[in-house]
Amino acid sequence: MSTVDVVTPVDTSVPTGLGAPVARLEGRDKVTGAARYAYEHTPDGVLYGWIAQSSVTTGTIMGSNRDEVLRMPGVRAVVMHDQAPHLEDAEDGELLVLQSAAVAYRGQPVALVLADTFDTAREAASALRVEYDEGGIDVVLSTDHPTLYAPETVNAGFETDTSQGDVDAAMADSSVTIDETYETAALFNSPMEPHATVATWVDGRLDVLDSNQGTSGVATSLATLFSLDPAVVRVRAQHVGGGFGSKGSARPVVVLASIGAMLSGRPVKLAYTRQMMFSLSGYRTPTISRIRLAADSGGHLSALSHQTYSHSSTLQEFTEQTAEPTRHLWAAPSRLMTHRLARLDVPTPRWMRAPGEAPGIYAVESAMDELALKLEIDPVELRLRNEPEVDPHTGQPFSSRHLVECLTRGAELFGWHDRDPRQGVRRIGRWLVGTGVAAATYPASVMPAGARVTALPGGRFSVGVNATDIGQGARTVMAQIAAAELGVPVDLIDLSIADSDLPTAGVAGGSSGTASWGWAVTKASRQVTELLSQGQPVPPEGLEVVVDIEEDIAAMSDHSRFAYGAQFVEARVDLDSGEIVVPRMVGVFAAGRIMNARTARSQFVGGMTMGLSMALHEHGMLDPTQGDYGNHDFATYHVAANADVGSIEVEWLDEEDPHLAPMGGKGIGEIGNVGAAAAVANAVAHATGVRVRDLPIQPDKLL
Ligand code: MOS
Repeated sequence: MSTVDVVTPVDTSVPTGLGAPVARLEGRDKVTGAARYAYEHTPDGVLYGWIAQSSVTTGTIMGSNRDEVLRMPGVRAVVMHDQAPHLEDAEDGELLVLQSAAVAYRGQPVALVLADTFDTAREAASALRVEYDEGGIDVVLSTDHPTLYAPETVNAGFETDTSQGDVDAAMADSSVTIDETYETAALFNSPMEPHATVATWVDGRLDVLDSNQGTSGVATSLATLFSLDPAVVRVRAQHVGGGFGSKGSARPVVVLASIGAMLSGRPVKLAYTRQMMFSLSGYRTPTISRIRLAADSGGHLSALSHQTYSHSSTLQEFTEQTAEPTRHLWAAPSRLMTHRLARLDVPTPRWMRAPGEAPGIYAVESAMDELALKLEIDPVELRLRNEPEVDPHTGQPFSSRHLVECLTRGAELFGWHDRDPRQGVRRIGRWLVGTGVAAATYPASVMPAGARVTALPGGRFSVGVNATDIGQGARTVMAQIAAAELGVPVDLIDLSIADSDLPTAGVAGGSSGTASWGWAVTKASRQVTELLSQGQPVPPEGLEVVVDIEEDIAAMSDHSRFAYGAQFVEARVDLDSGEIVVPRMVGVFAAGRIMNARTARSQFVGGMTMGLSMALHEHGMLDPTQGDYGNHDFATYHVAANADVGSIEVEWLDEEDPHLAPMGGKGIGEIGNVGAAAAVANAVAHATGVRVRDLPIQPDKLL
């Protein structure tokens, strides 16, 4: 039996309602089917699209039986590279679909089929035979791959290499060192709703219903790709069934559907199948991290180095910032962090929940556990002894940190105090039992955002903010923030979100959505309140204020802003089969003010589950002879489910931080997925005495 418990330190008597566990406003619509997701819209005259994918890893398209397929009843078009409109580069080579005969990876789109029905489109795509002049296959990442290079910057603009002191010398001088390499498998974003688009092209206007995490960015990409005035492109994403980063920017699906609509003059519906998700949505690159630690006998670090390797496609550079979080977590006089990238014949990796932090913190927090064992210092204590005064990378003061409090509260909640440090010595029946801990951190970011708030006659307020609700509860929390600022109940707010015609805003990503959109809503609401308090009359069309927060962001104080957490895990391993079960996970987080106890809890629990999944289950299995990953469905790519964990307990500190956006939250979408994998791996090592350094930890690696 699985139970998920939560301890929620929230005062629901706060009159503003901010922090209260308000249920999702659209929850009923979602569970009754009244909420319409992108693919559930069916405009009159719609054509159904299907993507035909390359069946070779690299090569050149030489010909096809397209004419034959076009003669199938109900088939309207088979669009290949020789017919697609020219696309301008929107800074993502993966979006330049059907632009050339060259194939860059197995599964790349080679044709868009349009037909009168869904089944005809699918049938026609499977009947399409494409001839290729096949090229080579270079798909295996290694630390000596000949294409490895140092990119100018890594994802999100972070520095590629940073160095201080002399790590080699510190390693040579220290009696206690760790020098180990940790690997993570390719991981695939697997939202419940695959990517989908309904595109309409009428009178020179492109209207798109799409499943994405941010309509402003998708609209901008479409305008660039098709050389359109941004004013004629509208993208909406009213309901989105998850994304995890894979919907953070335009994906080939929305470009292909738009091409189809433009060429056919009819609306086009196009979706990825679950199988296509593994090639066309973006995924987490496999990572290799060499970690070196040196410490004195008291456990104080003298050297910390994280040198990491990942891959990208030949179409687009994307470098997971795997060593970036290590820069901010622990201090040492000598430090070296590097990123190297190999360009391979693979689909382009992209964002997946906590890009950088998820694999990077797994590596460094596993190494810290190994160091603690060598030093015979408790792993919680080792971290407490290394708590830095200021951000070790920037030297800035922390806006707030409270990692020590997360670790000590977590240890108390978990029952860590009398832990026996010896590995592989506890048994319950046929199970070996162990416990593990890891720290977590994730940046508290804000991105530019606008909002529009209108006081309506009769006391209602219309609030427009281009937030996207990908299931995390953005719709509800934006209404709560507006209601709190305007001093009215949530049900007096008429909220519009997820429409690129609203003031421009950033994505539901980087754990920045609530802080960014919420800041704009707060600012506009305060201005409306001010006008009303000055006695401004409300005209019939309403009293409207439109704001953006660019100046406010630029004026933020000079602080290091991160959320922190501590993850605790119990693991049991079957002595005979190596089966691993996780009866219990505990997470304690310091993430500033929590806006909604219910939706926040979901984010933490979901993130921790995803970390567990990364540690034990999710495994993109590369086929080096065919290129591409061999597992393209949920039968062969297991994502952790309820049965994979006993209880998950979440608690958060009542943290006040005056250096954040005015609501005071740090962002919580990703931190639950940070450190959880390390805590699982550390618990498995404690249970068994076997340290597995490549995820996922599967039974055969323990035997
Ligand atoms: Mo998240 S990977 O920033 O959508």
